[in-house]
Amino acid sequence: MNDITRAAQALRAGELVAFPTETVYGLGADARNPTALAKIFAAKGRPADHPLIVHLPDAAHLAQWAIDIPESAHALAAAFWPGPLTLILKRHPSVPDLVTGGQDTVGVRVPNHPVALALLREFGSGIAAPSANKFGRISPTTAAHVREELGKSGEKNVAMILDGGPCAVGIESTIVDMTSATPRILRPGAISADTLRQRLHVPVHEGYAAQPADHATNSPRVSGSLAAHYAPRTPLQLCALESLPAAIAAALQESQRVAVLAPELSPPLSANQNIIRRVASADFSQYAHDLYATLRELDSAGCDLILVAAPPDNEAWRAVNDRLRRAAAGSGSESNESSEGNEGSK
Ligand code: TXA
Ligand code: MG
Repeated sequence: MNDITRAAQALRAGELVAFPTETVYGLGADARNPTALAKIFAAKGRPADHPLIVHLPDAAHLAQWAIDIPESAHALAAAFWPGPLTLILKRHPSVPDLVTGGQDTVGVRVPNHPVALALLREFGSGIAAPSANKFGRISPTTAAHVREELGKSGEKNVAMILDGGPCAVGIESTIVDMTSATPRILRPGAISADTLRQRLHVPVHEGYAAQPADHATNSPRVSGSLAAHYAPRTPLQLCALESLPAAIAAALQESQRVAVLAPELSPPLSANQNIIRRVASADFSQYAHDLYATLRELDSAGCDLILVAAPPDNEAWRAVNDRLRRAAAGSGSESNESSEGNEGSK
């Protein structure tokens, strides 16, 4: 029996399977099975009211998961699936509450990765899958990261980890809420607001930038919208490229070991045994592709501080800047309390 057949059987038996997608690795369960879904929350340490994305084999499955699907959602599905786009739609009454966090909406996407698609076709139904990391931490972009994240507890909770190599995109899907007249981006990703506008010929709101406390508004709860998320344990500081030399000098003066993620500099940084240097790509797709693996590597380098030169502040870099800001906000804590504690802050 091959791995895909075994993995589909494990899902049918109510077990968890970690699998690659083009964005990040997911921790999957049968989206119709509440007992299996509960295992996801236990393995991740994630609050049970945070909704999960349902991954589908193709857009023809939409009608089993959502109702009142607007034409614009069909248009986006046709244009961007399989791909890094999650649509928030009105839930079908049959969707378990653990998937939706008890809300009246459901998030759905068709991932663009041969292993994910083979698994979904073999399973033949929806697979609910958050990123396969502990709640609030850096999302995994390789199978080795998944093993690192879910560690010892993972061994008993996760039946299989399918290895599909490093993820091509490297950051999570764009999430767009299609339940009101004007689509609203809840989480920026590789598919930008401009790309969606061009396809739909209608305005698209960007709701994530100043998303206030979700208990104070009607906005759907998006855990990736917490101020602190995707975070390393080492304190991470974002600084303007111009102030990088001064920030490094200040850190070294406090006799700290510092990790630096910045583009090629001229003059280059002088070699110093207390500086760990990674050159950041000047291309946003490549930067996104490398981001989480680089943060993991720098996090385990035994430094007191990770200094990241802030990338350009424009549309192309929006998703990368979003992840970096949240990584900075949640960094420096051993537990994941800070990410939960920050919930509700902007
Ligand atoms: O790229 C991705 O989206 C990856 C891969 C594995 O597909 N998945 C992922 O899942 O990032 P997760 O659970 O780490 O983040 C999904 C986000 C969460 O912030 C969740 O709150 C939001 O999607 N979400 C899911 N259903 C929702 C809904 N009905 N309304 C609003 N937000 C929703
Ligand atoms: Mg996640």
